[in-house]
Amino acid sequence: MLSTVVLRDLHAADRPAIERLLHGAGNFNAAEIAVALEVVDAGLVPGQTDYELIVAADGEAVLGYACWGLASMSDGTWDLYWVAVDPQGRGRGIGRLLVEHCEERVRDAGGRSLLVETSSRTGYEGTLAFYRVLNYEVLARLRDYYIAGDDKIILGKYFSY
Ligand SMILES: CC(C)(COP(=O)(O)OP(=O)(O)OC[C@H]1O[C@@H](n2cnc3c(N)ncnc32)[C@H](O)[C@@H]1OP(=O)(O)O)[C@@H](O)C(=O)NCCC(=O)NCCS
Repeated sequence: MLSTVVLRDLHAADRPAIERLLHGAGNFNAAEIAVALEVVDAGLVPGQTDYELIVAADGEAVLGYACWGLASMSDGTWDLYWVAVDPQGRGRGIGRLLVEHCEERVRDAGGRSLLVETSSRTGYEGTLAFYRVLNYEVLARLRDYYIAGDDKIILGKYFSY
């Protein structure tokens, strides 16, 4: 039940659970997992301001997390770097909870937009559907960006301001 899920800050003790979650997500390759963990590690450095991280927890279990930050050299453009929900926790509204929380924090910080990058390869169809349901629009598609046949898809949401 979603009612038992709480959002809280990420702690260093959550790292192994995040690593398991990334490996179990089903669509991240080794390079993506390595980058995701680099971002988690950077976010755990006391006093850093580049990354904001939140986890969705049900008791001791970490069921999902999200990471976002202000796009460098921008005034009010934010990037949603990562969102992932454990396969066992999917379809319960946890992904929506994480993204909507992120949007709220970005808006509270005066953000004008939130962008997210994803891949066109097989395995990401559900991810695209998820963002569409959350009213993200495709802003750009960079053909063959990751490898030949794998486009970068940039989705985003502009907040009224
Ligand atoms: C994408 C992801 C975060 C969604 O998490 P989730 O907790 O299952 O999503 P929710 O239950 O909050 O779903 C929110 C809405 O999106 C829709 N949705 C979620 N996954 C979907 C899918 N695979 N296909 C179609 N719609 C989907 C839901 O139907 C729901 O709609 P509703 O609120 O109108 O009922 C999760 O599937 C995931 O971690 N995927 C792998 C990692 C990934 O691709 N992350 C994004 C990288 S950029």
